[in-house]
Amino acid sequence: MKIPREVIEEIIRRNDITQVVGTYVTLKPAGSNMVGLCPFHSENSPSFTVFGSDDHFYCFGCGTGGDVITFIMKMENVDYPTALEMLAKRAGVEIPQTADDRFADRGVKRERVLKMNEAAARFFRHCLTKEPCGEEARQYFKKRGLSEGISKQFYLGYAPNDFGKLTNYLKNLGYTEEEMIAGFLCGKSQKTGRAYDYFRNRVIFPIVDTSRNIVAFGGRVMDDSKPKYLNSSDTPAFKKSKNLFALNYAKGFCADQLILCEGYMDVISLHQAGFPNAVATLGTAITEEHARIISRYTKKVIISYDSDEAGQKAANKAMLLLGKVGVEVRVLKMQGAKDPDEFIKKKGADAFRALLNESRTGFEYKLEAVTGKYDISLVENKRRAADELASIISDYHSTVERELYSKRAGEVLGISTDAIRTDAERIRMKKIRELNNDQNREAHASLRQYSNKVNPDAAKNLRASYAEETLLGLMMIYPEYREGILRGDYELSANDFFTAFGKRVFDAIMDLEQNGGYVYSLLGEFFNPDEMSALEDMQLRRRSLAENGPEVFNASADVLKSEMRKQIAEVTGGQSLEDKLAEKRRKLEEARKKRGE
Ligand code: UTP
Ligand code: MN
Repeated sequence: MKIPREVIEEIIRRNDITQVVGTYVTLKPAGSNMVGLCPFHSENSPSFTVFGSDDHFYCFGCGTGGDVITFIMKMENVDYPTALEMLAKRAGVEIPQTADDRFADRGVKRERVLKMNEAAARFFRHCLTKEPCGEEARQYFKKRGLSEGISKQFYLGYAPNDFGKLTNYLKNLGYTEEEMIAGFLCGKSQKTGRAYDYFRNRVIFPIVDTSRNIVAFGGRVMDDSKPKYLNSSDTPAFKKSKNLFALNYAKGFCADQLILCEGYMDVISLHQAGFPNAVATLGTAITEEHARIISRYTKKVIISYDSDEAGQKAANKAMLLLGKVGVEVRVLKMQGAKDPDEFIKKKGADAFRALLNESRTGFEYKLEAVTGKYDISLVENKRRAADELASIISDYHSTVERELYSKRAGEVLGISTDAIRTDAERIRMKKIRELNNDQNREAHASLRQYSNKVNPDAAKNLRASYAEETLLGLMMIYPEYREGILRGDYELSANDFFTAFGKRVFDAIMDLEQNGGYVYSLLGEFFNPDEMSALEDMQLRRRSLAENGPEVFNASADVLKSEMRKQIAEVTGGQSLEDKLAEKRRKLEEARKKRGE
């Protein structure tokens, strides 16, 4: 273990879970617990609960749960050691550093990837500004009208047309191929298994997070070849659905309003033209996570997507998602240019500012689109237009806005405000019902899928796996069961466990118990956040009297044994019980290997 357990326990003691969670989620008291809107899924009424009894959290909507460390792991998308580091920093706890800390034994660390990205960005920058091979790239950026200043600010670069230059450069700095592949700077050759430069002959856009870490890269070809852009996939340091390009700059300028674009080049052009409040998503449509992040920085978003049909479709989706998190949204309507970059080139910054100030609400824009589509002097067309507008109005979250737009639509169509408003409200109720159903379905599906993912054996014998969960849940909460097992009061060992996951949990609990004492938070080192959520779930029900007590514990142990016997009787003939058990376990093990776990 890299961080001594005393230090971990100190970190947990000094980080009050309600305070830590409280910086991300608004919590309200509910009995002895605190509740709030879950930050891990979208909901309108709070199911996210922080328990007063034991400093754990659990969301009854999406099944995410754990302790303060798990919370940070999920929230910040970091691994166990990094979450500990962040919490240590927050509470002023010193973590003793060991010399070989950099090479943690659990895969590639975020810190390493960040350092490596920095080196790679320097390499790309050097190629763009200093190397002869960067000439075409220099010309390319010049042709696109980027100044030296903006190029430097965004730390733009060039990846040479070579399979090994970056790989060698990083190798010389001491980075392993494994790290380069995990950090998405290298691909892995199918034939030789060796790493090779992933970005080649492309101009490079480094992606920087709000803590000024270089977390990923985008690379664009300089001609019309495909794919136009390559982007880093998710790495230990980066999650697409959570990062916005240029938010590191925009965050200081967007309290009033934020401009949301589609592309890297749009954002850079806007910053150069004096709009430092522009950001873009990264090669993906806007997600719920993006919307939540945006709502932390601004109250108003101006969507400035491409003027083509795809762009406008995406703008509608963005409006819905941003509206859901309570951000005011307007859509910019550009004419005579396909995107903001082109608009600024053609018409200049002042024209763009005029567009922004025109303060065309999302609604005015849509109203025009609908009335432009129909000849509303015909009654039939008027009805169609009214239907469409009622549906559009129904998407606005503010009652005042719905009222205003109903009135406006009524005026334009020559229909009473009432008629439009009533239709809009009816459609709105229907949509909300559908949305809630969808979300429930999604939450349940993901819960099911994730419990399958965490414990795929569970589905094979529900009775046995339920008994397992009872045993493990009680063991995690009450010391008497752990002590009893050590003393031999209960007839229960790891071998009695039916699922591989249950066996692992049993081993981990008892291992901690024998080595300094069991502490729930220390399990976080051995189980990922999804698994921690499953462990939280196991404990939940077992706090109630009905599912607690030595009789329950013994009965569950019996169920486990009898289920195991039944299973064995089904598959084997006259072997001894021990042999059968061993065989049963071997089969499960094989099945798991086959699935590639
Ligand atoms: P666009 O095709 O609109 O590109 O894609 P752009 O930003 O206007 O780029 P220029 O002006 O042609 O240089 C918008 C965004 O979609 C993602 C990128 O993030 C891009 O900025 N994208 C596009 C990809 O990830 N891959 C692609 O192949 C194309
Ligand atoms: Mn463009």
